[in-house]
Amino acid sequence: MEPDSKKQNTGKTSLDNLKETGTIVVADTGDFEEIEKYSPQDATTNPTLLLAASKKESYQPLMNTAIEYGKKNGSLLGEQVDIAMDKLFVEFGRSILNIVPGRVSTEVDARLSFNRKATVTKAINLIDLYEKEGVSKDRVLIKIGATWEGIQAAKELESDHGIHTNLTLLFSFVQAVACAEAGVTLISPFIGRIMDFFKEKTGKTYTANDDPGVLLVKRIYYYYKKHGYNTTIMGASFRNIDEIKALAGLDHVTLSLNLLDKLLSSKEEIPKQLNLKTAKDKGESKISFINNESKFRYDFNEDEAAVIKMAEGIRKFAKDADMLQNLIEKKLSE
Ligand code: E4P
Repeated sequence: MEPDSKKQNTGKTSLDNLKETGTIVVADTGDFEEIEKYSPQDATTNPTLLLAASKKESYQPLMNTAIEYGKKNGSLLGEQVDIAMDKLFVEFGRSILNIVPGRVSTEVDARLSFNRKATVTKAINLIDLYEKEGVSKDRVLIKIGATWEGIQAAKELESDHGIHTNLTLLFSFVQAVACAEAGVTLISPFIGRIMDFFKEKTGKTYTANDDPGVLLVKRIYYYYKKHGYNTTIMGASFRNIDEIKALAGLDHVTLSLNLLDKLLSSKEEIPKQLNLKTAKDKGESKISFINNESKFRYDFNEDEAAVIKMAEGIRKFAKDADMLQNLIEKKLSE
């Protein structure tokens, strides 16, 4: 007899089964031509994903629109590049919103990760561009790295500007606690990158039961639910189906096309794992960081995986934003 978790059911795909646990499925890609068949509610983008999509022939019309917009609205080349890049991100977002019924996440340049003011200005500018295209700010999540400055910027955007935020590059409980206190709309814990760190450090292979990324998300889930925080938890950076199965019932998951495809072509059942009722017992006591920068920085610094993965994540996104900028600059100079 097959073990319970491998039981096949009739007709429904694993993707249907995951959705039935209450988890909202989100597509993690800029390649919007590919997402329709998975019927995700939302989609997330980042500089790496948009760099990849921008190189595809079929998305050149979006690039051309951005280039024209940059030329028209900027004078010096550097200014035109910045304007065209923001416009490109918004063009992708707008196209994605023609397909998904929910929201799209558009990321603020990672090079602003330690600058609260510049992050706020960039977010407002992106939302302005969306609104000029007739897209309401309620359909956009501005994605910001969960540094101290990023969290403070998100707090201001949410409370003073009604702009919804998705706090990304989240690798630790400390960041998650501060984000909830800041009233951010959504957080994206990077499950796979946390697991990558421990795999490399220990040489061990992890299962869903001891996967440090999965364990962090469960810890955050029980904490948020116990204390009644409304911030949505969206698992991100998944490496395999077992990580997804272990978190079935989580608020949201954002999945690569590869993992969406695996779920769509499987009929395996996905039982709900996370349960609101147990949050009262499993959730930890309340702590606070939002008004205590030194405590936030000290406690974050105690988490080696988070420190290393956060720094690396910012560098990677910044590098890809740089490459995208070079691509745009080349086109503007043609
Ligand atoms: C989510 O917001 C990120 O775009 C994504 O999940 C990162 O995944 P990766 O670690 O596979 O790059």
